[in-house]
Amino acid sequence: MTGFGLGFRPPHYKWITETHPNVDWFEIITENFMPGAPRPRKFLEKLRSNYPVATHGVSLSITSLEPLDPFYLKSLKDFVGWLEPEIVSDHLCWTSYENKNSHDLLPTPYTMQNLENVILKVHKLQETLRRQFIFENPSAYVAFSTNEMSEAEFLTELCKKTGCGILLDINNSYVNFKNLGWDPVDYFSKLPISSVKQFHLAGHSVHEGVLIDTHDHPVSSEVWALYRHALTLWPHVPTLVEWDENIPEFNVLMSELNKARDMTPLRTERSSIVDIKMLSKDEIDLKQQYNNFFRNVTSGHNFDKIELKYLRNDTTVPYHRGLEVYASGFILRLESVLKGLFPTLAWITEKDGFHDLILKYVKEFPPRHYSINYAGQDFSKFLSSVNLEIDFGVPSSVLKDIATLEWARVEIFELTSALKLIDLEWDIGPVWASVNRGEDPEKPSPENCTYLIWRKGENIVNTKLSQNKRDFIKALKLEK
Ligand SMILES: [Fe+2]
Repeated sequence: MTGFGLGFRPPHYKWITETHPNVDWFEIITENFMPGAPRPRKFLEKLRSNYPVATHGVSLSITSLEPLDPFYLKSLKDFVGWLEPEIVSDHLCWTSYENKNSHDLLPTPYTMQNLENVILKVHKLQETLRRQFIFENPSAYVAFSTNEMSEAEFLTELCKKTGCGILLDINNSYVNFKNLGWDPVDYFSKLPISSVKQFHLAGHSVHEGVLIDTHDHPVSSEVWALYRHALTLWPHVPTLVEWDENIPEFNVLMSELNKARDMTPLRTERSSIVDIKMLSKDEIDLKQQYNNFFRNVTSGHNFDKIELKYLRNDTTVPYHRGLEVYASGFILRLESVLKGLFPTLAWITEKDGFHDLILKYVKEFPPRHYSINYAGQDFSKFLSSVNLEIDFGVPSSVLKDIATLEWARVEIFELTSALKLIDLEWDIGPVWASVNRGEDPEKPSPENCTYLIWRKGENIVNTKLSQNKRDFIKALKLEK
């Protein structure tokens, strides 16, 4: 694959598949199209009949200490076998620990023990998929003092031992330079030339002195300069412009893409900005580091008071700030997704603490599925078991019923069910309808009732059933 690509993202699915813009190829987020996403699949089928496609995953968790998730691996194998993409990639990072998912790309201790672990997993991955896999250098907000080699050395060894490739994200290199002091020019010079198979370009944002890899801005001038340097080393590597949040009009994406196209490879002098000084090996057990890091990121402590020997304390951004970035990202990401999945629930509880509700929910039901869209699957169960301290103005069984109805709608729209029958203690259909119209809802009345949730074309419909219809449908065993 050659040339310049863009990310295939929901706001532009229709436009791209209908107008066929002048883009050489597209990259998709793998998990958005893996099992159970009938609507996007329709767009993907149209896309692949007109363009080369690359897949880019976010949930492989290749550097975790646990084996590859067999369910994920099987789904990936089936999906890649069906799509036949030109490039298959994910990140050199871990996302899950003991079956709980952070839905974030967490940084890795670069030790010999870990390298051996990752080599075994990459062998298994590539044997299963029967193809080369490529790994992206991740952005990071902390670095490990227990590192025994640099990230470039780790990647080089990994490529040498497994034949995998590298997806070099230029923006991530710049983010790591500013946050951790890693010199990107030196980093590039240490990578195996022939293993770099793809570039990423993206925008970042700055929060209180920390560069966050948000993909919500145009590519910065510094990153363009670094890209120009990368082109002197890899003049023919395909380049992708990523933009994942606050996605602008398509012509803005095209102008970023054309900027990359217009870049002429220039030979620049290699210059070292900062030398990486590796600390000597610490005796802290690798498993303990993973465990402690994951717990910190997913439980949100006051990091000012925390002392962690396994993280470097000489990075530009202090590690307690870096941990705050991961911990707040974990909750905010889930809150934003759950708000989209449960809009009525979010509306009713917003004034008095949807955020607090999410904190409690995530603590009791940490996300376990590789897709963040499944993060709401236990919300109804949580609401039926929890003792809510906050008074939302309605009994908590109302909130539970709303969660049940909204999750049934998600299952039909995003996931696999054709239709659902749900039994409720409150008639919350009118509540859902009011909020959907942007109006304050009336308080619901208690009533044991049954709703049928079903797809009508592109819409999901809630239909309240009479006792007869309910019994009839149940008898037909249409219920899933
Ligand atoms: Fe990237």
